Amino acid sequence: MNAPLPDPAIITSPPPRLNFDAGRRPAITIRGLCKRFGDAPLYQDFDLDIPAGRFISIFGPNGCGKSTLINLISGLIPIDGGEILFDGRPVRDVTIGYVFQNYRDALFPWLSARQNIEYPLTVRGLPPAQRQARVDELIAQFEVGFDLGRKPYELSGGQQQLVSILRALAPRPEVMFLDEPFSALDYEMTLFIRERLQSVFQQTGVTMLLVSHDLEEAVYLADHLLLLTKRPTRVADIVDVGAPRPRNDATLIDPDFIATKARSLAIFQREVRR
Ligand SMILES: Nc1ncnc2c1ncn2[C@@H]1O[C@H](COP(=O)(O)OP(=O)(O)O)[C@@H](O)[C@H]1O
Ligand SMILES: [Mg+2]
Repeated sequence: MNAPLPDPAIITSPPPRLNFDAGRRPAITIRGLCKRFGDAPLYQDFDLDIPAGRFISIFGPNGCGKSTLINLISGLIPIDGGEILFDGRPVRDVTIGYVFQNYRDALFPWLSARQNIEYPLTVRGLPPAQRQARVDELIAQFEVGFDLGRKPYELSGGQQQLVSILRALAPRPEVMFLDEPFSALDYEMTLFIRERLQSVFQQTGVTMLLVSHDLEEAVYLADHLLLLTKRPTRVADIVDVGAPRPRNDATLIDPDFIATKARSLAIFQREVRR
């Protein structure tokens, strides 16, 4: 149980800072973003404004750069040129949460589920009582019913991804990044976590950037659906989704919702065929 924590300096650079201004909701401004892998430009003079406190779903052709875009915004990979600012701040001054597609590689296998969730609080130097209180709050919010003393390998895939999401939420992020977080989950778990995510969004107003390969899901969760083109990648369109929250099964058969989905699909197909 007392496995040593990894040296924080290895994991986070620059050093983590205490930033618990819950409710801070920066708008994100992307100007002249350039990114290339080898000779092929992926993003070239790319501009985008992401409004504060909104749920943005990102959808586009395979390999168009959806994951790369959120990796660039979140600072996981460096930009080649341009500027990305959060209400004027660089990403290193922003508390972010990131949920990876592959939860198996994302959790620390030598830590219990609870220690994994506490991890971002541990590296920030939060005392044990405060860490525990925050995790207990998340457990209640997500109605976690399984034993968080277990190691990741003792949990189902859905439980592991839930732990990843709770870990991302633990430091009360200002912006959450989610890269196809449901793609490895069974349908029942997908529905459950989707609802919880929606309720976290409604409760906290945290800016959410979700990459999804499921158009219905992308529209269902989004305030704004960002549709990308094939590479070199541009914004194909931004579709506003006005359906009231909380959205539920009835939303899926609402004529306005169906029309929005159809419009998004038409834009996507136009871009894929181009
Ligand atoms: N580290 C990398 N090195 C070289 N090419 C990469 C790297 N990461 C992504 N790419 C390429 O950039 C493009 C966009 O990748 P990605 O953002 O993962 O696409 P998406 O998430 O939209 O499917 C793809 O063609 C991919 O092969
Ligand atoms: Mg991807």
